Amino acid sequence: MARDPGRVLIFDTTLRDGEQSPGASLNLDEKLAIAQQLARLGVDIIEAGFPFASTGDFNAVQRIASIVGTEHGPTICGLARAAPGDIKACADAVAPAAHRRIHTFIATSDIHLEHKLRKTRADVLAITRDMVAYARSFVDDVEFSCEDAGRSDPAYMHEVIAAAIEAGATTINIPDTVGYATPAEFGELIAGINRAVPNIDQAVISVHGHNDLGLAVANFLEAVKHGARQLECTINGIGERAGNASLEELVMALHVRRSYFNPFLGRPADSAEPLTAVRTEEITKTSRLVSNLTGMAVQPNKAIVGANAFAHESGIHQDGVLKNRLTYEIIDARTVGLADNRISLGKLSGRSAFRARLEELGYRLERNDLDESFARFKELADRKREVSDRDLEAIVSEQVQQLQDEVPFVLKRVQVSCGTGLLPTATVTVETADGEASTASIGTGPVDAVCQALNALMDVPNELVEFSVKSVTEGIDAMGEVTIRLRSEGVLYSGHAANTDIVVAAAQAFVNALNRLVVGERRQPLHPQKAPLPLAETRAV
Ligand code: KIV
Ligand code: ZN
Repeated sequence: MARDPGRVLIFDTTLRDGEQSPGASLNLDEKLAIAQQLARLGVDIIEAGFPFASTGDFNAVQRIASIVGTEHGPTICGLARAAPGDIKACADAVAPAAHRRIHTFIATSDIHLEHKLRKTRADVLAITRDMVAYARSFVDDVEFSCEDAGRSDPAYMHEVIAAAIEAGATTINIPDTVGYATPAEFGELIAGINRAVPNIDQAVISVHGHNDLGLAVANFLEAVKHGARQLECTINGIGERAGNASLEELVMALHVRRSYFNPFLGRPADSAEPLTAVRTEEITKTSRLVSNLTGMAVQPNKAIVGANAFAHESGIHQDGVLKNRLTYEIIDARTVGLADNRISLGKLSGRSAFRARLEELGYRLERNDLDESFARFKELADRKREVSDRDLEAIVSEQVQQLQDEVPFVLKRVQVSCGTGLLPTATVTVETADGEASTASIGTGPVDAVCQALNALMDVPNELVEFSVKSVTEGIDAMGEVTIRLRSEGVLYSGHAANTDIVVAAAQAFVNALNRLVVGERRQPLHPQKAPLPLAETRAV
């Protein structure tokens, strides 16, 4: 049986696989804010990125390693293809962390060997040995993944796994890269590894899986029953294509059904010891932060974190819930941090009350950012009598989004005129490195007029593919959160903003998306799985 850490380790890959979602790219400050929140959530390992992809990715992993990778903090991990350049970059990036891991991978399925890698099984076996040993020359904690394990010949994969462990891998990850497996098959894959790999007792078995058939969470839970002790997952299930297994669903399944899973971990069914180290009360806040910063909205009926997950609309349900919540509820909303939307602060609240509340909510801002957020709070409190925690979260997450080092465009002013019998007209002023410029445009509605005017000023070709508005809280004075997604040369870029004036929020979200587009086009990072492996380098260490 594989090495057993005594509980289920949660490996969060929101910042690596999650960031591979179309349009979800994050800047350095956003990644850091998410990593800090993941640490508060209590994940065991944060996969902070793919350092070889670009200087920006390297810097983000390094910064997270130095700020979040403290003695009592999570392990900070970076991804590296099985090639020396990738592994060296990864080792340098995670070096500042007290607990650091290199995660290296190579495909083991025949379809990937033949068409992607153009290598024989013997080549891949040799590369695995060499590259795992090379990674071990930098760190004690090395994870090895058999990419496309779900479609690999098990006998060959067992040989590769045994070689990786012999070369020093301490975690063996089994990815269902294309989301093809069913729960029984995936469970059997893990059971087979435990039966057939002679040195598997020296490594923790991990699973990673995509949700193409909507089965990722079910597959992982089956894997736990057969000895998997690390789950690779993302907040809100974001990730390549249909996404990854969702952290909140896995953690809450293991929490709510603890007595079912306990015996598979050798515990008495009624043991109250948690199966993961996650602080479930942080789940809702983490979900909102990731959704706001990636621009990836959470579907209302999403388990655990969807807007309807704890709503009881139908009369019969409400009647039952009022008599006894257990009639229709398996989770108390407070367990996932969904407290009643507390009224936090008002117009007369001062800076220190503001800062204290933000700290209670888990946000620690540097002086300048605090000043700007406080100014926004005051502006909001002037318009809205009571400012709730959700409002504060919206202000702060937008603030984090603004923190890019060099922002090409800054929105200065927006004015619209529209109404019955009028042509919707917008006048906008934007500041660039060349100074301020203004223009006016008409559109089919006020938001369209604003976007037309911004496009005319900024002259960055793009196609608007998504525009959504939702209110942050209830009530007529609520702030509106706008998410915009733009496409340019097949790549998606998102922008997000919140304001009591939704036209202003739309303008700011549009400018945020355009800034990402311009900065992102300069960046062009490598895709870890789709970029060709540097062939000449894979053996020469
Ligand atoms: O889906 C996958 O196979 C991956 C690996 C790099 C672990 O993301
Ligand atoms: Zn993946």
